[in-house]
Amino acid sequence: SKKPIIIQGPMPIEAENFAKRLKNVKEEKSGNFVFYKGTLDNYPVIVAKTGKGMENTAAATAIAIERYKPVAIINQGTSGGHDPSLNVFDIVLGKRTVNLGSLKTPHKESNEGIHPTSWIPMDLMASEGSAGEDPNAEKARYFEGDEELLAAAHAVKDKYTKGKVVEGTIGSADVWNNEVDRIKWFHENFGTSVEEMEGASAAQISKAYDVAFLGIRVLSNNKTNGGKYDPTTAAANQDYVYEVVKQYISMK
Ligand code: 5AD
Repeated sequence: SKKPIIIQGPMPIEAENFAKRLKNVKEEKSGNFVFYKGTLDNYPVIVAKTGKGMENTAAATAIAIERYKPVAIINQGTSGGHDPSLNVFDIVLGKRTVNLGSLKTPHKESNEGIHPTSWIPMDLMASEGSAGEDPNAEKARYFEGDEELLAAAHAVKDKYTKGKVVEGTIGSADVWNNEVDRIKWFHENFGTSVEEMEGASAAQISKAYDVAFLGIRVLSNNKTNGGKYDPTTAAANQDYVYEVVKQYISMK
């Protein structure tokens, strides 16, 4: 039988709209995670309500891969803008996804203070040795979005009318940044388009199992250009991702 496509959403407003559009839905639970197993155009699709943050998402991704053997995973939901040219309701396709919480501080003696802008990106996947000692680990790890999923997303771009759809870099950590200078620092040093709290975690676990992955994030807010938080962006993103999944299925 066909291998399912998994659509992840952290919060109820980021998962339930898509789940309602599936046919023949059976609900399954594991821990806090809810899996809505159904079909779209007679193809198996599972919506996973993962909860927020990197830990919930890593666990929900591993469990879903072990249980359902998916062909692809899309992690989608809301995000905060790091790029001032992006507005609330614009959508970023994650050409790359990066963990913004993976950092090493340079050495400082007692009373030399705390200097966040001198912190160095750290790649925990660089080797099996100590990331603190390995000079090869002093770089950010970027997870690449799957080419076929990106192609499907581009093919249906015009069906989204609430904003633009662009490729970019999704940054993730269990942090909500409101300091505009810190946001700028990430934008300049990691090339981030948006921040959220799940994508890099799902990308890392998908890569560990060699499952195709793409992050798709709508801006619900953007501190860099005054974009006020709008929770209705979450449903708009799911409507777009629904079209992406339909397109991907038609390509299979
Ligand atoms: N910073 C961090 N996370 C954000 N989210 C939306 N906007 C932001 C932002 N500016 C998403 C996260 C998380 C929830 C708090 O909303 O992915 O699931």
